[in-house]
Order: sequence, then C-alpha cells, then structure tokens
Amino acid sequence: MTQQHDATDAGRLWGGRFTTGPDEAAWQLGVSTAFDRQLWRQDLAGSRAHAHELRRIGVLDDDELDRMLAALERCAALFARDEFPFLPTDEDVHGAVERWLVEELGPLGGKLRAGRSRNDQIANDLRLWCRDACDDLVGLVGELQAALVEQAEAHLDWLAPGYTHVQRGQPVLLSHHLLAYVWMLDRDAGRLRDARERLDASVLGSGALAGTTLGLDPAAYAEHLGFSRVIENSMDAVASRDFALELLSACAILAVHLSRLGEEIVLWATAEFGFAKVGDAFSTGSSIMPQKRNPDVAELVRGKAGRVIGDLVSLLTTVKALPMAYDRDLQEDKEPVFDAVGTLRLVLPAITGTVASLTFDQDRLADASVGGFALATDLAEELVRRGVPFREAHEVVGEVVRLAETRGVDLDGLDPGELAAAHPVLDRGVADLLDARQAVDRRDSTLGTASSAVREQLRLARRASATNRGD
Ligand code: ARG
Repeated sequence: MTQQHDATDAGRLWGGRFTTGPDEAAWQLGVSTAFDRQLWRQDLAGSRAHAHELRRIGVLDDDELDRMLAALERCAALFARDEFPFLPTDEDVHGAVERWLVEELGPLGGKLRAGRSRNDQIANDLRLWCRDACDDLVGLVGELQAALVEQAEAHLDWLAPGYTHVQRGQPVLLSHHLLAYVWMLDRDAGRLRDARERLDASVLGSGALAGTTLGLDPAAYAEHLGFSRVIENSMDAVASRDFALELLSACAILAVHLSRLGEEIVLWATAEFGFAKVGDAFSTGSSIMPQKRNPDVAELVRGKAGRVIGDLVSLLTTVKALPMAYDRDLQEDKEPVFDAVGTLRLVLPAITGTVASLTFDQDRLADASVGGFALATDLAEELVRRGVPFREAHEVVGEVVRLAETRGVDLDGLDPGELAAAHPVLDRGVADLLDARQAVDRRDSTLGTASSAVREQLRLARRASATNRGD
C-alpha cells in the first residue's frame, strides 16, 4: 500500500478539483525538481518579464510590481547560494517558486500565474537555457580550435604520413592534418549558431496552448527576454522541441568529431605509431603496471560520444509521434539536453588541454611519411605529365612497387635503370619525384598540403578560432 499525498499540499498547483493528492508512486514518477531546478535563472527571468506584463494590463499595480520584483530578486539570491528551500511537495521548479512567493507575499504571490501555464513557462525556460548553452559551446569549440592552430603553427613544415584505411597513403604536413579538425569543428560551431538562431523566438503569451484572454503582448516578452522575434503559433510554442533536437544534433556531431580526434591521439601515443606523447597532466598511470602511461583523457573523450548520441536518440524517441500540443512526455526533454551540454562542457576543455600538451616526434613522423611506397601516386602522375594515359601509368607504377617490394627497398632504392626499364619515359628526373618534401609542396592548390597553401590555411583557421572564441 503506497502512501498518498494531500490534495492541498502547499506545493500543489492544481488541488481544486481533486479530493485526494497523487499516489506516492505517481508523485515520484512526475516530480522533476531534481533536474529542472537547473532552470531557475531562466524561470525567474520569465517571471520578471511576466510581472511587467501583468502590470501593463493592470493585474498588478505599481506597488505590487515592485514587491513582486523584489521578491524575485530575493528568490534569485537564494538559488545563487544554493539555499532555495525546496519542499518534498514541490513538483517542479515553477511550482516551487510560486509556493515560495505565496509564502513571502501572501495572496500577491498567487497573482503571477495569471495568463501563463507551465507549458509555455517550460518552453521559455528551456529555450533561454539552450541559447546560453549554444554560446558557451561555440566559445569552447573556439578554444580547441586555437589549441590545434597553435600546434599546427609550431610544427609548420613537419612531414607526416597521410592515411586512408589506416594504411599510409601520401605524405602530408602535420599541420595540414591538424587543421582538418579545425574545419570540422568550425562546422560544429556553425551548427550551434544555426540552432541558436532558430531557437531565438519568444513563446510566452501562449498559455497552455491557445494564447490567453488577458491581452498579454508576446512582443513585450520577447523584448524583456532578449529574444529576436516571437513564435507565430501558440500550439507550436508549447508542443515543439525541435530547437532542443537541433542543439542535441549539433552536440552529437561535435562529440563524434571529438571522438575521432581522441582516437587519433590514442593511436599516436602507442609504441607502434610513436608519433606523439601526451603531457603528464593528461595521462594516467596503471595501478599495477608501473611503466604504463595511458591516454585516458583521449579515451574518455572518445567514449563520451556514445552518451551524447544517446541523448539525441532519447529525445528524438520521446518526441516521435507525440500528438499536439503539450504532452507530459515532454518533461523528458530536459535531462538529455542537460547531459549532452554538460558532457561537452567537461570534454571540450579536457581535449583542448590534451592537444596543447602533445609533443610530436619529428623523426618518427618523417620516417613514416615516406614509408609504404607513399610516393607511388606522384610517380604515376609524373607519367601522366609525360604523356602516358593514367590507366597505363597506374599499371606501370604497380609493377615498380612490386619490384621494389621483392627487392626489399622503397621506390627511391631502385636503380635508374630499373625505372627506365619499367617505362621508357622514366629515364630521367625521377629523384626529385621521390622526395617527400617536394611531393608535399607540389600539392599547392588552395586546399592542398603544400607549405604555401597550409600557411594561408593557417591564417584562415586562426581567424575562425578567434571568431568562435569571441576575440
Ligand atoms: N514539469 C513540466 C515539464 O517539464 C512542466 C509542464 C507541466 N505541465 C503540465 N500541464 N503538467 O514539462
């Protein structure tokens, strides 16, 4: 037998038509203060805007408005000190604040609910919260971009192997490789900005779903809360969570990008690759193997992607097939959003520090950059320049590679005679072709890995990171 709550508990917003309060199990299922208390700032901002609107339409007089605003200030101070006195009978943050206002102000505290519903209140709060989250995350992405740009700049002309299928493909500059992440991250920042732009619409005045009869002005709320516009439809306002889904999508893609960077750092730090060492502050030891130096931070960054993807899938699944307008299922919107954004707030500074802490091994990178016949494409393209159809050139170089492989040398270990025998046009000027640095610098179009192109790219990347950091 579970216990029942009283219909007129202090925290209850809707006791009137009920003879008994909710069953304990029902109550436990619905209570959301444990997580929606994070919205206190946004909720109080909405309440301030609403108090001003109630004054404008004459529901509050000047004195009541002043007392209401002063009480909301005191309430904010309590939350800021983490001293707001929640009661077990508070169902959500909105109800808790109203209960507290009634305790502070008597009947005046009960006036604030006129013309609004928790349905438009929660939509407002979450939009405001997501707006700040977008700004924060863009800034943190900018910091990571800056760390990558700095490493790219510090190793400007270092050779590195470029991979496809985790097989050495063609030599590149290490900077080119690092800057690739800067551009992935730049699109992540762009997606966050896009999400922010679309969610930047005010919903207050929608009430439960249909608007209100009191003459409240949606534009006035937008003005108070710094929204750039007003949503067009009150049902859309209380029912839609695509703004949160967009933020979560942007978060999930960002987390996936970070997992790729994390994975690469893990690989680079292995004895097998040996391309980079992670700084002590971003490595951990083993409790049993004294020699170990593990890239745990990079691994956790990789691992957290699963959780952020889960947050997106969770909310997509909640919203799927929900009938109009507000349904209580939507209470499930908050935890995935808080979790995804909270996770990235942890992950981004940690991976930024890890990137900044990397020390690269120039010799290992340079040796690997030419290994595995990485200049075979250059040889084939030279044959093309000398008039050989690429199809034939590909065959010829394939045979040259096979020959080198059986001789146990790389392409530059073959005799000039052996090359000329493979194709008559290879009788001259082949040495330059088989030099990795020259191979890199031949790729000098704007998007290529030549030093000249990478220098220009670096300039643009620095600008992108500065924009996102808000410098
Ligand atoms: N705690 C609810 C939520 O997060 C607030 C809205 C409740 N509305 C209602 N009609 N029960 O969605």
